[in-house]
Amino acid sequence: MIYISLFNLFSRNKSSQKASNKESYFENPVPPAVQKTTSETSNKEYLQAIKNRRSIYALSKDPVLTDEELHEMLEHVSIHVPSVKDIHTSRMVLLLHDEHEDLWAMTSSILETLEDQDTFVNTKAKLEMFAHAYGTILFFEDEAKQEQIKTETPQYKEYVSSWSQQSSGMLQFTIWTALEMEGYGASLQHFNPLINTQVRDKWNLPSSWKLIAQMPFGKPVEYPNKKQVDTAEKRLLVSRS
Ligand SMILES: Cc1cc2nc3c(=O)[nH]c(=O)nc-3n(C[C@H](O)[C@H](O)[C@H](O)COP(=O)(O)O)c2cc1C
Repeated sequence: MIYISLFNLFSRNKSSQKASNKESYFENPVPPAVQKTTSETSNKEYLQAIKNRRSIYALSKDPVLTDEELHEMLEHVSIHVPSVKDIHTSRMVLLLHDEHEDLWAMTSSILETLEDQDTFVNTKAKLEMFAHAYGTILFFEDEAKQEQIKTETPQYKEYVSSWSQQSSGMLQFTIWTALEMEGYGASLQHFNPLINTQVRDKWNLPSSWKLIAQMPFGKPVEYPNKKQVDTAEKRLLVSRS
């Protein structure tokens, strides 16, 4: 269990200081807003939203939130989603209106040069569907920040890139679910690395920002087919004595 032992190392100094003075071990009381019972409706809504979140491709530009509310929501998630040592490596760009459409037009032009004509017919239809959505969130990981973690903690160097991907996954899922809770639909796309250079140039982004994923979102026009869900029994083991 290398993961556990690494994190034990991370927190060793802090916990041993605290352990030496038991009274100050728990420094902060749990805020009332966090002291909830699991039967609270909000938790049920969150679990339901996890289930409701689907890959939704048929989306419209009909407004759900204002652009300012969308901005605030992304800001909130970006601040509160955890990251290794609280060094946030994840970056996002929210593309709206023409900027959103430009992304999908650009992706289309790039793929047209790479795919044969027959394949491109389907690709083009898919990309047009994304362009019909309200906006797109671009997810990046900042390689310069990853280097900072490596420099500050060289002993974890080999894990940093995997941790960075995990942080991005946490961010993507949180936003996908938050969008669902607001009444949006979204899907997760990976036209990277084919579009990375053009995206970076068009939006004048730092060269250290590596594009990880694209999430077109909008008001759902059509919901996907019911999913065949497995039970979790082969995926979740419970051990207790
Ligand atoms: C890491 C990851 C990468 C994915 N990449 C793509 C993708 O490139 N294109 C796509 O259409 N869906 C992509 N998906 C969506 C999955 O195919 C989808 O979530 C899965 O089939 C379950 O369907 P659901 O989202 O409707 O529950 C990705 C999902 C994950 C978690």
